[in-house]
Amino acid sequence: MDARTWDERYAASDLVWSVEPNRFVAEIITPLKPGHAVDLAAGEGRNAIWMVEQGWTVVASDYSPVAVERMRSLAASRLGDRASRLTALVADATQPAPDGPAAHDLALLCYLQLPADEWRQALRAAVETVRPGGRIVVVGHAGRNLTEGWGGPSERTVLYDPEEVLERADGLPVTVEQAVIRQRPVETDDGKRVALDTVVVLRRDL
Ligand SMILES: C[S@@+](CC[C@H](N)C(=O)[O-])C[C@H]1O[C@@H](n2cnc3c(N)ncnc32)[C@H](O)[C@@H]1O
Repeated sequence: MDARTWDERYAASDLVWSVEPNRFVAEIITPLKPGHAVDLAAGEGRNAIWMVEQGWTVVASDYSPVAVERMRSLAASRLGDRASRLTALVADATQPAPDGPAAHDLALLCYLQLPADEWRQALRAAVETVRPGGRIVVVGHAGRNLTEGWGGPSERTVLYDPEEVLERADGLPVTVEQAVIRQRPVETDDGKRVALDTVVVLRRDL
């Protein structure tokens, strides 16, 4: 899907994703000391807005202008005075991140589903924009979800298992803190289902 197709998808509905943050994002970030973060391919900003509520200052980008506009308006209504701690930008996640190198304590890539080469560029941008000692948090639909899980994209080329993330991180200055597949329960019209997500946390080397 390109930016225009994402724009059409966002324009067709009031809210495409949930209001709440992704459960794994919340689990990983809650214990961390708030600082500066970048959320790449942030969509409507469910994770970025939640992070501001937790005390973080966040730059959140997406290449869909419709998503970014919605993120700005959700942030204004949810965050009030704190909305100034969220900067929402239109930007391509495969390009160097908006604030340049070593600018953030944390970078988030949440359900950015791109073919391997483009995804590798986004991971490189995320690693570059995190300071030494900072974290890169990756959550995405697992490759295994296609055969063993529920929902998500149906093209294997945009899915990634933990070992594929680690392969793509090869040569980057990071240490792996966790790389696992997690189950995410989903309520569907046909009852409860389980989606399989890849969850990876990398620490930028000192
Ligand atoms: C499945 S949504 C996830 C949104 C958000 N991270 C979340 O978890 O709610 C994927 C998002 O990636 C964005 N996206 C895809 N490719 C991108 C790229 N190359 N640069 C920036 N955003 C991109 C889409 O516009 C879309 O908003």
